[in-house]
Amino acid sequence: MARFSSITGTGSYLPPRRVTNADLAEELAAKGVETSDQWIVERTGIRARHFADDGVTSSDLGVEAARRALEAAGIAASEIDLIIVATSTPDMIFPSAACILQHKLGIAGCAAFDVQAVCSGFVYALTVADSLIKTGTANKALVIGAEVFSRILDFSDRTTCVLFGDGAGAVVLELSETPGILASDLHADGKHVGILCVPGTVSGGKVLGDPLLKMDGQAVFKLAVGVLEQAARATLAKAGREAADIDWLIPHQANIRIMQGTARKLKLPLDKLVVTVDQHGNTSAASIPLALDAAVRSGKISRGQTLMLEGVGGGFTWGAVLLDF
Ligand code: ACO
Repeated sequence: MARFSSITGTGSYLPPRRVTNADLAEELAAKGVETSDQWIVERTGIRARHFADDGVTSSDLGVEAARRALEAAGIAASEIDLIIVATSTPDMIFPSAACILQHKLGIAGCAAFDVQAVCSGFVYALTVADSLIKTGTANKALVIGAEVFSRILDFSDRTTCVLFGDGAGAVVLELSETPGILASDLHADGKHVGILCVPGTVSGGKVLGDPLLKMDGQAVFKLAVGVLEQAARATLAKAGREAADIDWLIPHQANIRIMQGTARKLKLPLDKLVVTVDQHGNTSAASIPLALDAAVRSGKISRGQTLMLEGVGGGFTWGAVLLDF
């Protein structure tokens, strides 16, 4: 039997605390930081984001998304033989959020590890899971993107703190006789470390360096549109498909202008773009599976359609996955 992988269920979870731009602007004004709903909407398309309460971790959000994906796939957690969590905000330095999430799911024994590729994390994790299924190492995988980016935001820096949110999305990826995942294309270029990073680290019992997010927004913007187009075209070429075959483009939800720019470069009508950045903000590795699940549950995406998932983020990392849903 040929070994391919297919998504059999999707799920997502947002922490209940929804913070609109107006709420955030009011909170920031109290600290002497000036912003407005109008500035945030015009430059980013973001209208609201969700923030997790103190003590709520990425694995807490991820396990809820995972349960919903399992339910949608109609399988029990005990059938899962691989868990990959894409996150840059894990619960602790180690063990991985994936191990903690596995225990919260009430299962044991299956392989579990985290992938750290920042906002490209979900396309990296999905590609790794697809490869492990194709090579016979796994048959039923949970691939999760989960983040609590609010923990690493500098709320005195208006150029970054208005952009991000918390949340989790998950898919069940199962062995199938037909694809499923058609092709992937992953890249990184470490020379761009400084344009998007959290430079701090823990050493000798102390936090060394700054543990909050730093970003050169314009440098990120310029790189993002170009690499997203390249990754999409390379993935289509590997699969022997054309851009016109894409039913839905589901890019990392960072900024509506980057997303629309990518769609235009691929000559895709903007109504083929799945957009949740307006309601979720940028949830890093969680943004693609969150957007996927929202579009599946709203009935936008149906079985048999062709989806292009695309991520770009710190590292610099970028990549794409083309799949038949
Ligand atoms: N509210 C009000 N004014 C602001 C704010 C704010 N929140 N932030 C910046 N400004 C001001 C600046 O101070 C500047 O004022 P000045 O002209 O008086 O100096 C003005 O707005 C313009 O600032 P720019 O930085 O030039 O604004 P730009 O149009 O580049 O938009 C943005 C900034 C939204 C960050 C944009 O560069 C961007 O989206 N970049 C990509 C970021 C991104 O997508 N990151 C994530 C990708 S990877 C990942 O997800 C981890």
